[in-house]
Amino acid sequence: MSVAISVRNLTKHYSRQNDSITVLNNLSLDINSGEFMALMGPSGSGKTTLLNIIAGIDQPSSGSVNVFGNDISAMSEAQLSKWRANNVGFIFQFYNLIPVLTAYENVELPLMLTPLSKTERRQQVENALAIVGLADRTKHTPNQLSGGQQQRVAIARAIAMDPNLIVADEPTGDLDKKSAHDIMELLSKLNSDFNKTIVMVTHDPSAAERATIIRHLDKGDLLPL
Ligand SMILES: Nc1ncnc2c1ncn2[C@@H]1O[C@H](COP(=O)(O)OP(=O)(O)O)[C@@H](O)[C@H]1O
Ligand SMILES: [Mg+2]
Repeated sequence: MSVAISVRNLTKHYSRQNDSITVLNNLSLDINSGEFMALMGPSGSGKTTLLNIIAGIDQPSSGSVNVFGNDISAMSEAQLSKWRANNVGFIFQFYNLIPVLTAYENVELPLMLTPLSKTERRQQVENALAIVGLADRTKHTPNQLSGGQQQRVAIARAIAMDPNLIVADEPTGDLDKKSAHDIMELLSKLNSDFNKTIVMVTHDPSAAERATIIRHLDKGDLLPL
């Protein structure tokens, strides 16, 4: 198996007034291509911070992060945002859909930032909505959909550009048991059938159990396997 994500000596501080807090402490981690990793740990242990740095939303204070051969820790903001748009799909706890847009338009939104034509966009949006099982809900707005369906729209949005990497921050955290199960089925399918590398933060042991590997963070340290 080849390494997809290589984090080396990653440290992240946040400064507030005169205070500096260390959120990640000299952390190193490899994630293999095609792996589905669950990140667990207490609230405040740095899970979201690590996920955001791996996905290029946030930048390290020191250390390096290499994702599919790109040293993203050395990129400028502009390079990072372009890289993200093409390489990473994001799934959040509260879906982060735009309320006034339909499911179709929500999934199309990130494609507007790419050079794809309208026809190409339509093909990718329809394909993504079909994969998540919502081909019959394209004209619904988020408030006309259940929580589980909204999360599936968010997953369609995440995969519309066919990224190699999917990051998910507590994707089942706001869902009932049945919807959570369906979302985990879908993430497993994206991993096994579409070969997506997935990094998922979760508190839910039954969600973590679907991953191929579970790692634990504690106060900014990665616990040994
Ligand atoms: N933008 C920020 N500014 C200052 N402190 C932050 C910021 N983001 C996160 N933190 C702090 O970093 C720590 C880890 O946060 P986070 O990565 O969100 O943890 P987790 O996702 O494990 O709950 C917390 O103590 C949090 O308060
Ligand atoms: Mg978090």
